[in-house]
Amino acid sequence: MSSTAITQRRVFRRTDDFTPGTPKLKLLQEALPQLGPTQVLIKVHAVALNYRDANIANGGNPWPVIPNGILCNDAAGEVIAVGEKVAALAVGNRVGPITDTENISGRETERSWLAANEDGVMADHLVFDEAVLCNLPDYLDWEEASVIPCAGVTAWSALKGMSIGQTVLIQGTGGVSVFALKLASAAGLRTILTSSSDAKLQQMREMYPSILTVNYSKIPDWDIEVMKLTGGVGVDIVVENGGASSLVKSLKCTRRGGVVSQVGYLSGQDPSHLRELIPTIIDRRINLRGINAGSKHDMEDLCAALTAARTPLKDLIDRTFAFEEAEEAVEYIWQGKQIGKIVLCL
Ligand SMILES: NC(=O)c1ccc[n+]([C@@H]2O[C@H](COP(=O)([O-])OP(=O)(O)OC[C@H]3O[C@@H](n4cnc5c(N)ncnc54)[C@H](OP(=O)(O)O)[C@@H]3O)[C@@H](O)[C@H]2O)c1
Repeated sequence: MSSTAITQRRVFRRTDDFTPGTPKLKLLQEALPQLGPTQVLIKVHAVALNYRDANIANGGNPWPVIPNGILCNDAAGEVIAVGEKVAALAVGNRVGPITDTENISGRETERSWLAANEDGVMADHLVFDEAVLCNLPDYLDWEEASVIPCAGVTAWSALKGMSIGQTVLIQGTGGVSVFALKLASAAGLRTILTSSSDAKLQQMREMYPSILTVNYSKIPDWDIEVMKLTGGVGVDIVVENGGASSLVKSLKCTRRGGVVSQVGYLSGQDPSHLRELIPTIIDRRINLRGINAGSKHDMEDLCAALTAARTPLKDLIDRTFAFEEAEEAVEYIWQGKQIGKIVLCL
């Protein structure tokens, strides 16, 4: 094992006080976990935030979380020490953990999400088993690399199987959506992007002049608008972020036999929105697939694809914050102010 003098780390743990206006995070100094034989010590350089983090911090996560856990699942850092049996990684490697540490191949039966079933990554040092770490592309800086594990892998999984020339509907301008837009554009897919904000849509049209856009807030029947934009046929695939209140509309504007990738649950869980689910899914012969970030193999495939094309990710980052400003960063994302990703720099 390489020697290291580091025995302490700084972490943000959740307060679990869900009263509006109260702090959601507390900065603590803690003893570093002991390094096991197959584990590595990582010096963290960037942590990316997701909607999920703000939702967990505010008590809204639909799955169980450990009490006062460490928030966040997206980190990029440098290996600074390795256990004696570590075989695939070495000091100096650039790595990030997978989001669900039980999901290596996609066939595992258990789940263990960072920041939910186990501690997350909002810390200046991390200890992980080498099996749950992926090498990050060398051509990206730390901030860019940090957005890959969750938003990137989720967008990758949601678009899997699409072919050049097909049409995708992407909902919203958050982290998963802007990553999906970048991948769709690189893959030659025709994109229809929705947002509640004309200003955000204008900004995205300036970056991607060929996309079509719909304001889902101004046009409540946005599914009918999407059908018009596709000549009455429907899109081949939807990156579904709304959840209960948008799913039936998404099915209605997908072509017969198309795919809806269910990624998000931004609109809550009201079952009354799903009354037409069964007739619609049968009538349109839709393949509805659940997306759960992705496996380690998915993350490796995404990193290989990004590296092959040297795809820049800088434009996905809306704003960076200092590590110490984590509370402000979580609130920023909770208020939905961002286009794309928010990253903490260390
Ligand atoms: N299944 C998975 O593995 C997985 C992985 C990552 C994220 N997620 C989920 O996917 C969703 C998006 O995550 P994110 O991190 O990209 O979030 P984010 O960065 O906070 O972006 C959310 C954006 O979605 C749009 N939006 C809000 N409510 C909407 C609605 N009812 N219908 C359509 N669009 C809506 C808004 O865009 P505009 O301001 O442009 O309207 C909002 O800014 C969340 O529910 C998150 O929990 C799931």
